[in-house]
Amino acid sequence: MASPKTFPLPPMNIKFCLGLVLLLIGTASAQLSPNFYANSCPNVLSTIQSAVNSTVANELRMGASLLRLHFHDCFVNGCDGSILLDDTANFTGEKTAAPNNNSVRGFEVIDNIKNQVENLCPGIVSCADILAVVARDSVVALGGPTWTVQLGRRDSTAASLSAANSNIPSPAQNLSGLITSFSNKGFTANEMVALSGAHTIGQARCTNFRGRIYNETNIDSSFAASLKSSCSSSTAGDNNLSPLDVSTPNAFDNAYFNNLVNQKGLLHSDQQLFNNNGSTDSQVKAYGSDQGSFFTDFANAMVKMGNLSPLTGTNGQIRTNCRKLN
Ligand code: HEM
Ligand SMILES: *[C@@H]1O[C@H](CO)[C@@H](O)[C@H](O)[C@H]1NC(C)=O
Ligand SMILES: *[C@@H]1O[C@H](CO)[C@@H](O)[C@H](O)[C@H]1NC(C)=O
Ligand SMILES: *[C@@H]1O[C@H](CO)[C@@H](O)[C@H](O)[C@H]1NC(C)=O
Ligand SMILES: *[C@@H]1O[C@H](CO)[C@@H](O)[C@H](O)[C@H]1NC(C)=O
Ligand SMILES: *[C@@H]1O[C@H](CO)[C@@H](O)[C@H](O)[C@H]1NC(C)=O
Ligand SMILES: *[C@@H]1O[C@H](CO)[C@@H](O)[C@H](O)[C@H]1NC(C)=O
Repeated sequence: MASPKTFPLPPMNIKFCLGLVLLLIGTASAQLSPNFYANSCPNVLSTIQSAVNSTVANELRMGASLLRLHFHDCFVNGCDGSILLDDTANFTGEKTAAPNNNSVRGFEVIDNIKNQVENLCPGIVSCADILAVVARDSVVALGGPTWTVQLGRRDSTAASLSAANSNIPSPAQNLSGLITSFSNKGFTANEMVALSGAHTIGQARCTNFRGRIYNETNIDSSFAASLKSSCSSSTAGDNNLSPLDVSTPNAFDNAYFNNLVNQKGLLHSDQQLFNNNGSTDSQVKAYGSDQGSFFTDFANAMVKMGNLSPLTGTNGQIRTNCRKLN
């Protein structure tokens, strides 16, 4: 072998190259990737999808509930599994925040999936990533679009009740309030409308639409009348459920948008997206006549939502039990 030649680069360039390599390593550890578990847990995606498929086949609404968990996780200090942490004597999590209390569900399903995944590859797959994959698989199971889920999020060691109360949008908000809530998380008004199409599945409690069906005028009168039978004007029946999409409650399709055009939005916030020459009316109409454009925009916005402030590298932890810290 020839003796080693002098390294051809001058010291300045060596430093530059080293810096570049370090930068690339740093960037790689801070970015999510679809192949994150390709070597460490190759069967994780099919394991999760099988579990979601059988769960949703058993109870169609659960697909909606699981999709919502990812949203309520991501909008509160990023997609970090914080919503899954249980309250304890000395720890207050997000489960009793106003938008979540007596409302979010599906925690046992996540526990079950986490157990399967821990048996497959212990200590590898985060709860935050499980929520992201489960959200996609739920949408697919109900007939909606698919997308590639970015992976490599880690789990938080904290949660924030106050951020859950202030960052998750409220059904009482008007259009400008909704636009602001999403803009605070980096979304455009168009992306807000696309993401709201998640309300093509799932149910809401009377307490969240009582004011609308008894007091609002931008609602189809027979639609309002039909809802009143299970949602009285008093506080009785606060938890009685009605579908967010009255036409096809368990199909992930574009019917939600046509309902809005027909003044059959269930929540005040839903109907705000199509209301008397509002700035989002034309987009609602367009999605109502072109399901493909809704699916494309929804999938892209879900990927963007999944990228909200993930913990990566050595930040956070991979919880063994999604409900508590290691
Ligand atoms: C635009 C602002 C939004 C507001 C004001 C809002 C509000 C609500 C409310 C009040 C409920 C009913 C909760 C209950 O009565 O217990 C609900 C249900 C639901 N939300 Fe939203 N939401 C919004 C956006 C989203 C987004 C972006 C997603 C997901 C990408 C989503 C997914 C769902 C699903 C799937 C349900 C039904 C859950 C179930 O049946 O368990 N929502 N939402
Ligand atoms: C889950 O259901 C979807 C939609 O029906 C299907 O495409 C997919 O192959 C199923 N996946 C598994 C692992 O069963
Ligand atoms: C908090 O409570 C748990 C039991 O719920 C206990 O194991 C832990 O030591 C407590 N931590 C602190 C800092 O008091
Ligand atoms: C959450 O709901 C429970 C049961 O309805 C109720 O007792 C509790 O006060 C609620 N918590 C908060 C923080 O609103
Ligand atoms: C929307 O709601 C906000 C806060 O409640 C209020 O300040 C604003 O005037 C409302 N905007 C419209 C157009 O109604
Ligand atoms: C309807 O509006 C009136 C007047 O603001 C109010 O007193 C009543 O409580 C509202 N009803 C419901 C069901 O929200
Ligand atoms: C909507 O705007 C158009 C044009 O600006 C106007 O002709 C129409 O009357 C408006 N409709 C409503 C319901 O305000």
